[in-house]
Amino acid sequence: MMEQVNLGLVGGGTVGGGVWQALQRNGDLMAARLGVRLNVTRMAVRDPRRTRGFTVPASVLTGDWSEVVHDPNVQIVVELMGGTTTAREVVRAALKLGKPVVTANKALLSAHGPELFALAAKHQTNLYYEAAVAGGIPIIKAIRESFAGNRITRIAGIVNGTCNYILTRMKLEGAEFSEVLADAQRLGYAEAEPSLDVDGHDAAHKIGILASLAHGFWVKPGSIHTEGIRHISKLDIQFAGQLGYTIKLLGIIQPVAATAPTQGKKSKKTADDGHASAIQVSVYPALVPNTHVLASVNHAFNAVAVRGDTVGDTLFYGRGAGQDPTASSVLGDLADAAIDLRAGNHHRVPPFVSHNGQGTVASMDSISSRFYVRLDVSDRPGVFARIATVLARAKIGISSIIQPEGHTGETVPVILMLDAANNLSVRKALATIGKLPVVKSNPVVLRVENLD
Ligand code: NAP
Ligand code: HSE
Repeated sequence: MMEQVNLGLVGGGTVGGGVWQALQRNGDLMAARLGVRLNVTRMAVRDPRRTRGFTVPASVLTGDWSEVVHDPNVQIVVELMGGTTTAREVVRAALKLGKPVVTANKALLSAHGPELFALAAKHQTNLYYEAAVAGGIPIIKAIRESFAGNRITRIAGIVNGTCNYILTRMKLEGAEFSEVLADAQRLGYAEAEPSLDVDGHDAAHKIGILASLAHGFWVKPGSIHTEGIRHISKLDIQFAGQLGYTIKLLGIIQPVAATAPTQGKKSKKTADDGHASAIQVSVYPALVPNTHVLASVNHAFNAVAVRGDTVGDTLFYGRGAGQDPTASSVLGDLADAAIDLRAGNHHRVPPFVSHNGQGTVASMDSISSRFYVRLDVSDRPGVFARIATVLARAKIGISSIIQPEGHTGETVPVILMLDAANNLSVRKALATIGKLPVVKSNPVVLRVENLD
């Protein structure tokens, strides 16, 4: 008889349903590969009577998660319910029992990661979380294990499938934001609370996890500069296209020379190996040149470009959201968990703050960026001069000015491409420009990332 490992799933929605169905489909293959059969013996859902797109025996289903966690036959707990309150209780309860936990819950790890990893260590068990970042792409393992011999000098990625899906359809079809968001929800990409996606928080949760893994200190979610995509209009997508760029929601993690206030310790020092001790950890929509590979990552696909001092440039690409891709990562973790159980590796998986634990997140105000600015201005002579004067006083260079033809009416759009300048200086100058009588609405401001 082949050895069997019993799984308790908490959550049988998009991802939980995907895991259940993938195990029905590929369970034999996995058993042959692992020498262990993965068997879901319990599954908790909110409403066990609800009709699902798959059949689960009544003896397996329950409406009470604690039955699953405390079932003595359940050896691995898989948390796929989402949220940070009950999900935290579920994970804590399982870890306290010394049961390995697999989770796809980036919001939970972002909010409570250090506590949960400490609990796993205390109870000599493992917490696995590959599905929490970039859906089906094995980016956690890559950074934690495959690149252990590297200093990570930059991570730049598209890590939210919903936003990428929305921006792609706005670009390719001229679709409206709200209609495309509804499609992303229908397709199972969006979070239960979609503002987590469109306001950039989901991407920030993921980028925080990657930053903590890559740089060895706990990046608090509140320290991550986060902007979403609600304010992106079709007009900006079109203008960016005419300039040779595509707008993407980008997560960026890179060391910077800290020249101004930083979160946490206010430090200007650099590490003794010459690396800056402050890192940029940010999520914002940015113009990416169409010649860069990230510009052609479309729909719910994600891509993470990782640069290490030893490996050089690498790119991880794949489906970043949705049922099957996410289930694929959960199954990968389950394979690890089953092997670890069999080998007696009670606390093998390192937490995401596993090295020196030193570092700070640089304030965005201390960082220099290039900018795209769209202004709605009065259509009369002298307007450019006034705007240019404000920028010149702030020592901000203009690399190009475009006033597209064909606009009629009292106001016209003006697009400015600014040279690299300090974020704080640009913010202040644009606040001044926004108050000029000739400027008729708030400037639209987007960073430009060449990702050289
Ligand atoms: P979902 O479709 O809303 O499924 C949530 C599941 O949890 C449902 O089966 C629900 O039961 C169950 N549930 C909710 N509250 C419960 C409770 N108190 N007790 C027991 N069961 C409860 O969510 P999802 O899209 O699968 O996402 C699950 C997790 O995976 C989240 O952390 C999400 O961030 C993460 N994730 C999702 C994706 C994706 O593409 N969807 C990708 C990566 C990671 P009912 O079915 O009865 O409502
Ligand atoms: N809502 C998330 C996204 C799911 O759209 O990327 C995958 O983590």
